[in-house]
Amino acid sequence: MESTYRTILQARSGELEKLKEMAKKDSWQPIYHIYPEYGLMNDPNGLVHFNGEYHVFYQWYPYGPIHGMKHWAHVKSPDLVNWERLPVAITPTEEYESHGAYSGGAIVKEDKALLFYTGNVKYEDGSRSANQCVAFLDKGGIVEKYADNPAVRGVPNGYTGHVRDPKVWKENDTYYMLLGAQRENETGALIVYESPDALSWTFKGEVKTKLKDFGYMWECPDYFKLDGKDIFVFSPQGIQSEGHNYHNIYNVIYAVGSFDLDTLTFDVDYYREIDKGFDFYAPQTFEDEHGRRLMFSWIGNPDVTYPSDEHQWAHALTLPRELALDGNELIQKPVEELKKLRDAAANFRGKLESETTYIDEATNNAYEIDMTFKDINANEFGLELFSSKEESTLLTFDTLKQEVRLDREGMKIQYATEYGTVRSEAWTPTEKVDVRIFVDKSIIEVYINGGRTVFTARIFPQKESKAGIKLFAHGSVAYDLEYYGLR
Ligand code: FRU
Repeated sequence: MESTYRTILQARSGELEKLKEMAKKDSWQPIYHIYPEYGLMNDPNGLVHFNGEYHVFYQWYPYGPIHGMKHWAHVKSPDLVNWERLPVAITPTEEYESHGAYSGGAIVKEDKALLFYTGNVKYEDGSRSANQCVAFLDKGGIVEKYADNPAVRGVPNGYTGHVRDPKVWKENDTYYMLLGAQRENETGALIVYESPDALSWTFKGEVKTKLKDFGYMWECPDYFKLDGKDIFVFSPQGIQSEGHNYHNIYNVIYAVGSFDLDTLTFDVDYYREIDKGFDFYAPQTFEDEHGRRLMFSWIGNPDVTYPSDEHQWAHALTLPRELALDGNELIQKPVEELKKLRDAAANFRGKLESETTYIDEATNNAYEIDMTFKDINANEFGLELFSSKEESTLLTFDTLKQEVRLDREGMKIQYATEYGTVRSEAWTPTEKVDVRIFVDKSIIEVYINGGRTVFTARIFPQKESKAGIKLFAHGSVAYDLEYYGLR
């Protein structure tokens, strides 16, 4: 069998063109989300607003929908809406990254953006190590690896080879690098290095939190401040599901509290799963030149096969979301710029009395809904999406159970069913509910009550099926809905 640790430089003649051709024919490919032309995408990397342009890098394996030799692929945009594909930014050709250029973040320093990543190294006996590396993006768009890579060789004492995903920031003239790690006793942790120049690093210690016994590995850590509070986001692996929470193979949480950089003590006041959907992992945030805290995430899960795999491409990134805090609740809003995607609006208004009504019987599955339900006097109400004679995806508000559910049980094409076909979150019935939904071929993002609860998921409608939108109520509810086709 051919190695999955081949770089793109080792492609056979015509091989990449063929993959691109196969992927292009797939009608599940999104229209306005970032996705790979072929091969597998996973985590967003190196997010940075630099020199007036948004740069998004992402984990990418070229040769099919599997997790092999990871490169950093690269797209950029002037406005977070129109994206241009650029040449691969980081190809793992060196000894210190022999098994892939893994995830990491970026900062701007002087006239360059510094990209931090993990050089993944695997050994024949099955063990592994990790090196932390740097590359420079200049204003001409050229990416060059740091000549003295790796900036950090190996892992500190007390940790396994699972140390990765550097997130760097500057505070009081010192640079800090946060890494996801696994302790030798196989529990997850976050560790910190510090540096005067972002290139030479010394180990500072482990972040102390009350989150003990919280999985066996913490991946893709992020750290930022909102409203003077400290927020960590990370992807712990090995968390048991409970109630509405942690139903995917791996999950993502944010934790709000106060972080003391000197002692590395993080007093956690509150934590919660960041997205309640089926397909969401390894998000990353950055601050843009307008001072907004923005986030992209991988719409996918590790160790899960997807229906589109047969077309030789896999996964996508979420829409860019602007983050804010309301108390300790993280609010996620699709960035304002996305309104540029809209065609003319169609308005639908009315009242449902224990009935179902079509808003549209056959959309092209690339649209946005921005709506309100009000005057609620129903046990259940909601939307039926990807609706046809044979299929449906339900977004149900349940006033008796006080929960909101996204249910993809009604789709013919199923996957990852061992993790269940319904996701839910607590919801307290109030006077009205705002719902904003983005559908993009095989992607759905649902933002409830201004982004207080978000569901991100893949939905794979049968290729020949029409994709209707219905509203339903068991009881009575009024609605006011704007529909926009998106380009
Ligand atoms: C998360 C992750 C990261 C790692 C990367 C490898 O999805 O496992 O921890 O850097 O993917 O592709």
